[in-house]
Amino acid sequence: MTDPVIKTALVTGAARGIGLAAAKRFLTEGWQVGLLDIDGAGLQRAAAEIATPERVLVLTCDVAMPAQLESAFAGMAKRFGRLDALVNNAGTAVFKPLLETTHDEWQRVMAVNLTGPFLATQLASRAMADNGGGAVVNITSISGLRASTLRVAYGTSKAALAHLTKQQAVELAGLGIRVNAVAPGPVETAMAKAVHSPEIRADYRDAVPLGRYGLEEELAEAIFFLCSDRSSYITGQVLAVDGGFDAAGIGLATLRGERRNL
Ligand SMILES: NC(=O)c1ccc[n+]([C@@H]2O[C@H](COP(=O)([O-])OP(=O)(O)OC[C@H]3O[C@@H](n4cnc5c(N)ncnc54)[C@H](O)[C@@H]3O)[C@@H](O)[C@H]2O)c1
Repeated sequence: MTDPVIKTALVTGAARGIGLAAAKRFLTEGWQVGLLDIDGAGLQRAAAEIATPERVLVLTCDVAMPAQLESAFAGMAKRFGRLDALVNNAGTAVFKPLLETTHDEWQRVMAVNLTGPFLATQLASRAMADNGGGAVVNITSISGLRASTLRVAYGTSKAALAHLTKQQAVELAGLGIRVNAVAPGPVETAMAKAVHSPEIRADYRDAVPLGRYGLEEELAEAIFFLCSDRSSYITGQVLAVDGGFDAAGIGLATLRGERRNL
């Protein structure tokens, strides 16, 4: 009798935030998960929270470094022997005015947010093709859907990642691999709690029809759905999980009777 297949996912940027929530969602569903992050100490803290260490592999890796990514995928193959889902979640941001953003900052944001998912998806596709297909989810942002101040590198990288998602979906369909993106709106991560001032929180509340930040678990739900067989005919899509931010135009706060006295 052969062992039942246990599905396997690799989540990048999994030491905290949305990535860790997604990894936990896969584990809850019985999957095996590779948690990949540049922050080795953070990964150890994350792994210590997980009740099923036998289904987890921790991989310290910078997604912008091709050789490190290759080692990480080799580690996944050695430990689990299959790959069913890749979540390209690792991301970095430089929030500076366009005229002050340096060439190095621009290059690093592109390397992590765009080149990393390009390389990781190439490696994942080869592994997925061996078991008949799989699913990739790229984490973009509402900053890739709408322009804003201070996001020339970050927003552009995420808009490019949304298009890369479509390119990948079209080319990888023949291998049985679906590729979609999730574009989060403002999410209540530990980082957001620490750095978003009351004024920023009020601005987001005004711009988001549902009037609140999203939860990490709400993002994880959408990510898991797009990696699962329940979305078997969906590919090449960008799903904004943003409380309606992308749908709204001007006047929202006024219409809701919530205009603030600034
Ligand atoms: N939190 C939000 O409000 C929000 C909104 C829109 C989009 N996003 C996107 O969602 C994703 C996750 O966001 P988050 O808020 O959980 O972020 P976070 O900063 O809390 O976590 C990101 C993780 O990625 C890791 N990372 C960064 N650079 C890396 C690299 N080069 N290689 C490997 N790992 C790396 C970090 O160490 C960290 O653990 C990011 O792509 C982000 O751009 C977040």
